[in-house]
Amino acid sequence: MFRQTFAKINLLHLKYNIEFIRSHLSSDQFLCPMIKANAYGCGVIPVASALRDVNIRRFGVALVEEAVELRENGFQQEDIYVFSTFTQESLRVCKELRLTPIVGSLDDLILLSKLKEQISIHLMFNTGMQRLGVVNEDSSTILKLLENNPQIRLMGICTHLATAEDFSEENSFAKSQLKEISSIRSRFSSSDFHLHALNSAGFMGALDQGIENYKEYGVRPGLLMYGVNTFSPQIFKPKPVMSLISQLIKIQKVNKGQGVSYGHTWRPARDTFIGVVAIGYADGVFRQLSSKIEFLIKGHKVKLVGAVCMDYLMVDLGDIVQSRSEAENLIGEEVLLFGENLYGSADITNVAENAGTNSYDIMSRVGVRVPRVYS
Ligand SMILES: Cc1ncc(COP(=O)(O)O)c(C=O)c1O
Repeated sequence: MFRQTFAKINLLHLKYNIEFIRSHLSSDQFLCPMIKANAYGCGVIPVASALRDVNIRRFGVALVEEAVELRENGFQQEDIYVFSTFTQESLRVCKELRLTPIVGSLDDLILLSKLKEQISIHLMFNTGMQRLGVVNEDSSTILKLLENNPQIRLMGICTHLATAEDFSEENSFAKSQLKEISSIRSRFSSSDFHLHALNSAGFMGALDQGIENYKEYGVRPGLLMYGVNTFSPQIFKPKPVMSLISQLIKIQKVNKGQGVSYGHTWRPARDTFIGVVAIGYADGVFRQLSSKIEFLIKGHKVKLVGAVCMDYLMVDLGDIVQSRSEAENLIGEEVLLFGENLYGSADITNVAENAGTNSYDIMSRVGVRVPRVYS
């Protein structure tokens, strides 16, 4: 590593978070961590390995390609669920690699029937997300199709919550989705059959409302497992899995009123020292954060000033140093953008809010050229 910019991934924290979730589920309750999008940017193979270490044998991904990567990297025995749309060819790959397609359209089901090969599937029902999923009204057609094609083994059904954060509200839409998927399930009865519906916020909502009332719903956690709980931090504070860290590589004196970075959109109100940090928007620091947020150097807040560049950003050191020599002493120090280091912690949700987005977006878009360092 010639550039000291990296994403530190704490797999012990990942295990801690998933253990918390698992400890609230019954032993036969479906638990399928979502490790799509390179495990939300944390690195799919190390994350899958850490989960396998703690005996997790099911994984959810969004692409057949992501499932293939897992199989190619030694995850041969695990159940891999692919939440996707399909083609004849990708279904053939699912069959060959023993992947479980989560089928979310009648067209895909018809494609499957043409495959004429034995394959296990789950059905995704659209109960309000308006994304992937067949609808309740299709149930009779689906049942007929399954009856005529016994090679298709329906092993579960599921849905995805659109407003899981509203779980504790009186007229919770999420709860109406759960009700609907339960009633659909009763039409597809079978003995070893899974029903899954709860994402992180749904799980936290269920926990808040008495998890024993939600035993029938399997859980597909993502964000919570990666250490973010914006929904109900008072109930459970997960440990952050990803920390984004860079380094102060250069300082310079800038006089009052002198412009900084592209477009000179920021000018100091007093003479100050500017620090150059070796990370930019190509690494996943959103340009929208320009002049809006503070990062941490040795636990001290420093403001990001001026436009974020592709490979660099600048911070105002004026509040934490008085002289050039003090500023120079900071060269080589870690700059914590979010997560935690020896000196303190910085919440990823603060970064997300200031960038006008959410933590999923921030984590999953940490750039490919940022090495992931595991502990
Ligand atoms: C189908 C499905 N299930 C579960 C999840 C996990 O959601 P979360 O990260 O909010 O727990 C996702 C993520 O978007 C998803 O697409």
